[in-house]
Amino acid sequence: MNEIFEPTIALLQRRRSVAPVNLTGPGPTERELDTALRIASRAPDHGKLAPWRFLVFEGAARERAGRLALEIKLADDPLLDEASRQIELGRFSRSPLVIGVISRAAPHVKIPEWEQVLSAGAACMELVIAVNALGYASTWLTEWCAYDVRFRTAIGLAEHERIVGFVHVGRPKFAPEDRPRPALADIVARFPA
Ligand SMILES: Cc1cc2nc3c(=O)[nH]c(=O)nc-3n(C[C@H](O)[C@H](O)[C@H](O)COP(=O)(O)O)c2cc1C
Repeated sequence: MNEIFEPTIALLQRRRSVAPVNLTGPGPTERELDTALRIASRAPDHGKLAPWRFLVFEGAARERAGRLALEIKLADDPLLDEASRQIELGRFSRSPLVIGVISRAAPHVKIPEWEQVLSAGAACMELVIAVNALGYASTWLTEWCAYDVRFRTAIGLAEHERIVGFVHVGRPKFAPEDRPRPALADIVARFPA
């Protein structure tokens, strides 16, 4: 089979997640961030509901998010050890930029909530592709913060809103190796005639 060199195909074939600790600065410029967010907001969206929104953590705001994470962990365990405290404090500061992708899916007269959630996942992936196309690397994480209602409330989410992902963005410290991918034979079938 001939290799395809069309840039988008090449990018998608090459893209790998890079763990936040292996992402360094400088992060995207304001213009690049604007570009990536505009691309993310072009995700397929049945009913044009924009059932998602984005929350940008940059600069000192990353440290504030870490302090909020630590407060919650300390409420659960006031004797939390020092190493764990540092992990929470640094949770949003591991990479130069973190973009929270938030699902706003809600009951709708015509559009199933499921489709709104799918659209939010698509927006998150569009964001990942855009930042990679701009020359950065990323990782889409949820971690405990995404599932803790106290944390979601602390960062301003409404009760029905959910975290799709925290997309960590930066420059990769090294080129990641690929990981094993599923064999198409295991995941693709031809619907019989
Ligand atoms: C919704 C979602 C949440 C994820 N959350 C985490 C996470 O909390 N921690 C983690 O290590 N990987 C998480 N991942 C996996 C990484 O984003 C990434 O896909 C994985 O490390 C494989 O790397 P690849 O993107 O290069 O295939 C999540 C992926 C998705 C789609």
